[in-house]
Amino acid sequence: MSQPRILIVDDSITIRKALLKQLKNLNADVTQAVDGAKGLEAALGGEFDLIISDVDMPNMNGFDMCQKIKSDPNKGSTPVLILSSRDRDEDIERGFSVGADGYLTKSGGQGEFLLNVRDFLDKMDIIRDRRILVVDDSVLIRKKVGNSLLKAGYKVVEAENGRQALEVLNSEIKIDVIISDIDMPIMDGLQLAKALQSSPRLKAIPLLVMSSHDERALIRRMYQLGAAAYMVKPFSMEQLEHTVEKLLSDHFQNLFLEKERLRHEHSLMLSSITSLIQALEARDVYTRGHSEAVAEIAVGMGTVMGFDPDELESLEIAARLHDLGKIGIPDSVLLKPGKLTVNEYEIIKTHPTIGAGILRPIPSMAQMIPAVLSHHERMDGGGYPQGLKGGDIPLWARIIAVGDIYHALTSNRPYRDPMPEERVLQIIDDAKVGHLCPDCVGVFLKFIEQ
Ligand SMILES: [Fe+2]
Repeated sequence: MSQPRILIVDDSITIRKALLKQLKNLNADVTQAVDGAKGLEAALGGEFDLIISDVDMPNMNGFDMCQKIKSDPNKGSTPVLILSSRDRDEDIERGFSVGADGYLTKSGGQGEFLLNVRDFLDKMDIIRDRRILVVDDSVLIRKKVGNSLLKAGYKVVEAENGRQALEVLNSEIKIDVIISDIDMPIMDGLQLAKALQSSPRLKAIPLLVMSSHDERALIRRMYQLGAAAYMVKPFSMEQLEHTVEKLLSDHFQNLFLEKERLRHEHSLMLSSITSLIQALEARDVYTRGHSEAVAEIAVGMGTVMGFDPDELESLEIAARLHDLGKIGIPDSVLLKPGKLTVNEYEIIKTHPTIGAGILRPIPSMAQMIPAVLSHHERMDGGGYPQGLKGGDIPLWARIIAVGDIYHALTSNRPYRDPMPEERVLQIIDDAKVGHLCPDCVGVFLKFIEQ
């Protein structure tokens, strides 16, 4: 939570000041109220992520205030943490009986207080805006489960049977947890679980089964069908809330780990690519830095064209790799200082195909392959290796082709000195007819101007 909104209710200015100081550590936006009545007014009139309240206060005590907040249909889900110097069991029990979400005693250290507040806010972050699909043919159970989840701060969608549940799941509504009964008409819980398993997207949503059946074989079967938890009816609403919360936090933990794993894989892949490029450029002093320069131009052009950051990153990789296939060209041809024979030129022309072949087994490179394969195609069909024409040439390949020519002509080569910029820009502009993509040339000139 970036800036949690917290209401503190305490009649002691010393305690309010102390709390305020500690909550600064959480970067909280804090509102203060001097007694229960003022606290209630603030709680009902504002939006808070957490209310921290004393018990003994003039006008209205903390228990009464908590009970009134909790029975309000709009504000009932705001978590209330009681902070009191009373630490007898009956006081703590009283706190929970009026709906408080936590009870802290003032004797606990400051560190403990902050930890508890932070835990609370983390929990609310997990719950906030999470939508639970409750599937049961009994309207009574749907209402009971639904209302208790609503009170706990979740959003709830109901379905009468498996088929209705699938309709919801296949609609635009995003569901975070499914709670389903087993015995239902039209489509029962087993069939629903099977249907969820067959879809990679739906399979990822945690499924909590609730049923009056307690036979082991059935419970095992439901777990085999992908259920994340099984609760035997009757169960308390606290148990249910606790299980849902646990499923969500495990689920988000897993999503987070998966994201981390992908990020790690991605960075490994990028460093392997860098090594490949370095290996390629180490052979040929004249092309050193060429891939990087072409990538820079391609990204600049992509930016002018309004590509999003993911597209720009992939385009950059494709551009850096465009000549990767030259790894497969013999030194005698690649590094030959003089003019190439027809045969030698034919060998050079295989480099886009070799490059695409190197990348083909790497799944995350699939998007870059067409650009690598087609960067020497020409708009009039006279290029290689496939002789593609116009719009059939992938856009990224057409972009890279412009950068490739610009950088090749402006850099030093064994057989010639770098050409002056003005002359190169003229050549590129002339190449709009037949060779280069005219739109890309327009974008390139705009980019150079910038
Ligand atoms: Fe090339």
